[in-house]
Amino acid sequence: MIVIGGSSCQDLASKVAEKLGTKAAKLEIRRFPDGEKYLRVLEDVKGDEVVVIQSIHHTPDELLFEYLLIVDTLKDLRVKRVHSFIPYFAYARQDERFNAGEALSFKTVGKLMKTVGTDEIFTIDIHQHRVLKSAEVFGIPTRDLSAMPLLADYVRAKGELENPLVIGPDADAERWAKLAADQLKADYDVFEKKRLSSEKVEVKPRKSDAKGRDVLIVDDIISTGGTIVEATKTLFAQGAHKVVVACTHPILAGDALERIRHAGAADIIGTDTIPGPISLVSVAPLIAQTVRQM
Ligand code: R5P
Repeated sequence: MIVIGGSSCQDLASKVAEKLGTKAAKLEIRRFPDGEKYLRVLEDVKGDEVVVIQSIHHTPDELLFEYLLIVDTLKDLRVKRVHSFIPYFAYARQDERFNAGEALSFKTVGKLMKTVGTDEIFTIDIHQHRVLKSAEVFGIPTRDLSAMPLLADYVRAKGELENPLVIGPDADAERWAKLAADQLKADYDVFEKKRLSSEKVEVKPRKSDAKGRDVLIVDDIISTGGTIVEATKTLFAQGAHKVVVACTHPILAGDALERIRHAGAADIIGTDTIPGPISLVSVAPLIAQTVRQM
């Protein structure tokens, strides 16, 4: 098994390779003077099973194109199979035509990944709210993994929270709240959320009462931080004792981190699906374990 990381996942690929007792294969990636991308696979891969790891974030179009170059080249070099891990999968949110004439970007991305020869795709806490089976859209096997147990383990090991209540900030976060709560043997609930604009949301509690409780808020993505800020404020308004925040994909647009800290969160934890200042939990064990089970 050969592990190859695209330019968004070099560190993650090295960690996964190390866990599998191998080394990540090298790529040469640079730009031609006109800005076009040059890519070369620097290993003999013929006949091998290959794990490709590429998160598609921040510069999604560029990283997607690079992914397509990697897999198309590997297939041309006659590898046996390509098992792709896309820890952060951009365009998953545009899985429906919300207004007439819009691109179904999620479907287009899947089509491209299949066309270059991807044999199967693993995602991590993919942001899918309408299309629930990517395999039906992409036409190749897909499986969504979750980083929630790893995040919960980290929070437990840090020992910051006493008998925590786990909260998902909206109904779609219920599956993540449940996974984290199961791992922590804690109770959980979700808030009701109404999105007012891309930066502003309103949340209100459902059944749970956070009075005097330590709370762990879990979500798939922190983008502008608007959702977490409102959830944190609501919990403190209920009388919560302490709030810690955990997410799989810390996009952290603009001043998201400062806003969440300002709302009173004691700690903010994310994973390395998107490397950054709060990427304290690595998804490498999750990927390595999945590869071992293939
Ligand atoms: C929404 O459905 C997602 O699960 C996240 O809650 C959302 O993407 C977070 O975005 P923001 O940080 O901008 O509120």
